[in-house]
This record gives sequence, C-alpha cells and structure tokens, in this order.
Amino acid sequence: MELTRLRGFRDLIGADASAMSLVEERARVLAERYSMKEVRIPVLERTQLYQRSTGETSDIVEKQMYTFADRDEGETVVALRPEGTPGVVRAYIEAGLDRTDPEQRLFYSGPMFRRERPQKGRYRQFYQFGVEVFGRPDAACDAEILIMIDELCRDLKVPFTMEINSIGDQKCRPAFREALVQWGRAHWDALCDDCHNRIDRNPLRLLDCKIDAKLTESAPKSLDYLCGECRAHFDTVKELLIAANVQFIVNPRMVRGLDYYTRTAFEVMAGGLGAQSTVVAGGRYDGLVETMGGAAVAGIGFAIGIDRMALALQAAGLAPAAAPDAAIIAMGPAATRHAIVVARNLREANLNVEMLSPERKMKALLARASKIGARAAVIIGDDEIARGVVQVRDLKHSTQREVTVAEAARAIAAAGKE
Ligand code: HAM
Repeated sequence: MELTRLRGFRDLIGADASAMSLVEERARVLAERYSMKEVRIPVLERTQLYQRSTGETSDIVEKQMYTFADRDEGETVVALRPEGTPGVVRAYIEAGLDRTDPEQRLFYSGPMFRRERPQKGRYRQFYQFGVEVFGRPDAACDAEILIMIDELCRDLKVPFTMEINSIGDQKCRPAFREALVQWGRAHWDALCDDCHNRIDRNPLRLLDCKIDAKLTESAPKSLDYLCGECRAHFDTVKELLIAANVQFIVNPRMVRGLDYYTRTAFEVMAGGLGAQSTVVAGGRYDGLVETMGGAAVAGIGFAIGIDRMALALQAAGLAPAAAPDAAIIAMGPAATRHAIVVARNLREANLNVEMLSPERKMKALLARASKIGARAAVIIGDDEIARGVVQVRDLKHSTQREVTVAEAARAIAAAGKE
C-alpha cells in the first residue's frame, strides 16, 4: 500500500477510539458540573496568533507549527492550531466578552497539530480537552481548577501525581529571569547547545534542559523570587488544595514551555506512559488577554492530552472493551423477519444488540457471537416463532434457556453473570 498515513498521525479504530471518547465524555460531564460552557473554535488560524501568544521563542512556534500561505488575495499565513488557548482568547475578545461579560468559564475539545518527533504518547495530530476561565484573578479559582483535574483523574481511576509551581508575574519574573541568565552564563560549558540558545531568548527554559537534569538542581528557583502578592497567591492556592484534600507536590523547577504563563503553573503525570507521561498541563495567564488586544482580564486554564490519558487508561486495564449484550441468530427467512423485530425491541430495552447474518450456518454464527464478545446469543427458528419463544444461550456458561419473547431482555441481562 502506497498511500499510507503520515508519520505521527494515527488511525484510531475500535478500542483505541473508545478509550479516547471515554476520557472526553467524562471530562465533558465534569466541565458541565463545574458550570462551564462549551466553545468551538476553528482549527485554522493566522500564524501570528500563536506568535503573539504561545510565544516566538517557544518550541511550538519556533519549530512545530504546520503553517502555510493561504491562496487568498493577501496570501494570509495560516497555521493548524498547535494548542487551543490562543484561539479561545481570540474568540473571547472578538465576541467582546472581555468588556461586556468578562467572567467566563469555557471548555473545548478537538484535534491539535504539532510537528514534533513522534514517539509513544507524542503525535503530530493529537487531541486536547481544554478549559479556560476568564475574569477570575483569585487563588480560589486556581484551586477549583486543580480540584477539577484531581476529580477527573480519580473518576478515571488512573494513578497520577500533580505538580504545581508559581513562576511569578510581570513584576517579579524579571529578577528571576536575570538570575537564570547569570546562572546560565556561569555554567555555559556544562549546558547543551539548545540551552546556549535559550539563555538570551527564553532563559526559563534552561530548567527544561534534558541533557543534564542534575545540573539544573543548582539553578535559581522561581519560588525564591516571588513578590509578596505572588507568594500570598501561591500560599492560598496550596492552603485551599490541602483543605480540599488534593495531593500535590511543589516542583520549583517546573516552568512550562509556553510563554503566556504567570503565577500558578501545573502538570499532572500518569503512570504506564514512559517518557511522555504528562497527561494534563496548564496554568494562569493573567496578561494574555491584554497582550492580544483585549481588556486587562485574568485567565487560567489547562488541557488534558486525551491521547495520553486514553493510553494511561488502557495501560491500567481501565478502558473496558465494548461488547454487545446479545447476538441475534435467525434460522431462515421467516425467522429473519421475526428476529429483526426482536432485535429492535431489545435495543429499545437499552440492550446492545448485533444481528448476525442469516445467511450463515449455526456453527459459524455461534463462533461469531463469541468472537464479538456477546454475553448471550438469541436463537430464533421457525419452531420458536410458532411457539412465541426464543432460545437464549449464555455464551460464557454454555447453557441455554427457552424464554418467551417478553422475557428475553431479562434472560439476556442475566447471561454471563457468575
Ligand atoms: P501543553 O502542555 O502544550 O499545554 O499541552 C497540554 C497537554 O497536551 C500535554 O500535557 C499533553 O498531555 C498533550 N500534548 C501536547 N503535545 C502533544 C503531542 N504532540 N502528542 C500528544 N499529546 C500532546 C497547552 O497546550 C496549553 N494550551 C494548556 C493550557 C490551557 N494552559 C492554559 N490553558
């Protein structure tokens, strides 16, 4: 086959797709319980949008965007969205909400595109479920967001750890930045080439040096540079998390790779994923709405990496395979007409039912019923029609019962139980 899929792009068939849907559905239910409203935004935006928000010196903008000149008159340079936050902020400003109704709690879900080196848990098209809350500069909002993430991970039952940090604000970050530049210069020879580039362009990222994680232990920590307000904010966040019984670790080396963050930043790691273990990440971005031309409105949000969360569920055996309750087997044309109605009635009784081909032999059909994981086979022949009954075969215990059509749903529900 020549027309294969592109590197880093995935086809998700059956169980892999359902594990993703499961994550998405649970997140949606939770978002609604947290009084959030859905927002749908375009997949294609101006490249400039990401340059202005995600940041010129971020890996995403520097090297990972799928960007091209559109063939319209002005040849607008556009990009497939690498993340959802900039588009949501743009939509928020463009709808005038920053001025008319600034307090908004929004969620979104959909594909994102980054031209990264593919590996397990890292894809070029991946899916995020994101949340953005505007107009809430208070620490209680940070805590609520983190409690929501904690609740989601508990609901999904994945083993996880939550790390939080504060990276300060426009007032105190410059001193931290400067301290990192000084430290970087002092350790120049030990740092990698990437870090040499980062020293002037984006010194916070020195803390992400993958080559020598040990070295960064001696680097300045953001928490030591926080101004009074940022420190009080962070203390309140921690206090509220403790009150809500949320387990977290303060990781003073976490800086996040996107430029817009202020104050609280966080990442959640799940087990069973190898190197790409961060399943949820986000933080506060109080200056972003203003930077992008809106009013001075605070913001905070996060995104769940749906692909990774689904992999974590599958690794822990927590993504149940969907299987029908019953396979319907009809023997002959009259039985087929009858069986199609029985199948429909069973579905109306909320059972998951697959009608098998009436053109195959009983042995092959029973094998098929087992293969698709059905708990029961409902067998209907001319004799059954005449007597108003069906045979319900428990495929796990290899037992068979004759029941009236009216009793079939209950017999199927009981099949396969211990
Ligand atoms: P991010 O850390 O770039 O943040 O991505 C969030 C999550 O998306 C990651 O933790 C990971 O689970 C998933 N993810 C990222 N890249 C890939 C990839 N190539 N393959 C698979 N999964 C991936 C953001 O995107 C921010 N917009 C989050 C945010 C919202 N901050 C505030 N509001």
